[in-house]
Amino acid sequence: MPWCSASPSPTSLSRFVLLAILVLLCCSFFAVAQNTPVDAEGHQWWQHAVFYEIYPRSFADSNNDGIGDLNGISSKMSYLHNLGVDAIWISPCYPSPQVDFGYDVSDYENIDPMYGTLADFDGMVAEGRKQNVKIILDFVPNHTSDQHPWFLDSKSSRTSAHRDWYIWRDGKGPGKPPNNWISIFGGSAWTLDPTTNQYFYHFFYKQQPDLNWRNPAVEKTMLDTTRWWYQRGVSGFRLDAVDTLFEDPELRDNPVLPGTNAQGDPNMENQYNDKLPQVHEELQKLRKVADDYNAVLIGETWTSNIAELDRYYGQGSHELQLPMDFMFTMVNQLSPPEFRRQIAAVDAAHGWPVFVISNHDIQRSYNRYGDGKNNDAIAKLMGAFYLTLRGTPIMYYGEEIGMENNDPIRREDVKDPIGRTGWPKEKGRDGERTPMQWNTAPNAGFSDATPWLPVPPTYMTHNVASESQDANSVLNLYKKVLALRHTNQALLEGSYVALNKNDPNVMSYLRSYKGEAVLVALNMSSTPRKVRFDLSPLGFGSASAPSSLKVLIASQAASAQSNEVSLEPFGLLIAEVH
Ligand code: NOJ
Ligand code: CA
Repeated sequence: MPWCSASPSPTSLSRFVLLAILVLLCCSFFAVAQNTPVDAEGHQWWQHAVFYEIYPRSFADSNNDGIGDLNGISSKMSYLHNLGVDAIWISPCYPSPQVDFGYDVSDYENIDPMYGTLADFDGMVAEGRKQNVKIILDFVPNHTSDQHPWFLDSKSSRTSAHRDWYIWRDGKGPGKPPNNWISIFGGSAWTLDPTTNQYFYHFFYKQQPDLNWRNPAVEKTMLDTTRWWYQRGVSGFRLDAVDTLFEDPELRDNPVLPGTNAQGDPNMENQYNDKLPQVHEELQKLRKVADDYNAVLIGETWTSNIAELDRYYGQGSHELQLPMDFMFTMVNQLSPPEFRRQIAAVDAAHGWPVFVISNHDIQRSYNRYGDGKNNDAIAKLMGAFYLTLRGTPIMYYGEEIGMENNDPIRREDVKDPIGRTGWPKEKGRDGERTPMQWNTAPNAGFSDATPWLPVPPTYMTHNVASESQDANSVLNLYKKVLALRHTNQALLEGSYVALNKNDPNVMSYLRSYKGEAVLVALNMSSTPRKVRFDLSPLGFGSASAPSSLKVLIASQAASAQSNEVSLEPFGLLIAEVH
């Protein structure tokens, strides 16, 4: 073989040069390809991916200690792939005293022993690669644990190396914190530390001191941490509490509003410690690093209007690719007019929409939308709804089997600290964090040991094994819709147009792309409905020869005839338009 000879001839030399050029070209092509759009519409991987949030304590327990772990997640990777999930966001699994169940990090570059080891993490990434499931970690930039070595050093003296990594101030006088800011978890946001007789600031629990992002050393360390994980195979981050990264340097008092919150504290407008403009500069820096790895940034962005949400994409789309739109989660009723309004608003924003109906901080969608009688039908309806919209959906584990909240009944059973301090008005978030229901074995097959939170009795009917056998289950509906949205061009690439916009009961819309169209009709009412569609203004059929519908997915009693759809109470129908 010419390239093996000791002294190459001029021909083999030129062949070698050619080959080297080819290799170089290929390498640079792949490097560029990493950051180039993946399809003709300019859509990137995270725009076609379905994300799925996993609360690691509660997903699968591989070593039977009652707490879920990374090997447990690895063991379920083929389940996730078969379900139609492309990326999992894992809530924090770093070493942590677990005061806020992982959102109090004591080492950003390791795995908590209760969840496994870095080797288990690498194994999970490898398993994910086999099953085409990307790993997204939860990055907690606003605060660390009070047990993090940085904070232990910071509090040790006023001149310690890490003193300025956190926010320390003198009080206004004896027993008087520096200002009136309130922790979202209850009480003052300032705690006096007797060692140095100064207050430190914490937007959340006092065991979660806020980092000082105005200190360049903090910023550099945190950006480097994201790099470290990207190099280890992470495909992006969900950024926790980004709104709270910066505080007013003058520490001005927040305006006080009338009334008190669930924790008994005065209501307040967080004018000086929330959504400060500097947040956006930091997001741009985090994004720059993410772009080097073709990674995605998902934001925990609680906003009250679309203009606010829009800002998180960044003016040149150089901040978050996926700021979560939580406004959908606040429509706590099946209201087509309200959903239409929300979708139209987010569609008009300049970024790619993100839809979420559940997560580990809010009551499960099964309970929020359910009417107590038709909860399964409503769970299917909601799945068929947000998984067929234009945008990226982020599911929450268990939503696909119709898992319900299992709220604690007695204060002494509460694990989430805000449930203990706010009881009985605020029961905390345990109810939406219970173990995944795999089968009918004790503890729903999650663990042989008593789980850290109890499963609800309904696990006997709502579990993966039983629902896999039932063609009409919530799980099978989710699977069908997810399979469709991965292959159907109109759902992947198409525009969204609301249909029959004045109908207060049936939510319907058309997704269309290059002459292909999918119609979705969802009966959000408890009575049967018949709906007629005139799609001729949209280019499908004409007044004399209306378009016809070919059913792709439908609830048991739903049907389509010509251009008319019949839906049972809470029925759904997804059809191809001809
Ligand atoms: C938002 C997280 O989702 C929540 O669970 C946590 O308690 C706070 N951020 C503090 O990190
Ligand atoms: Ca375990």
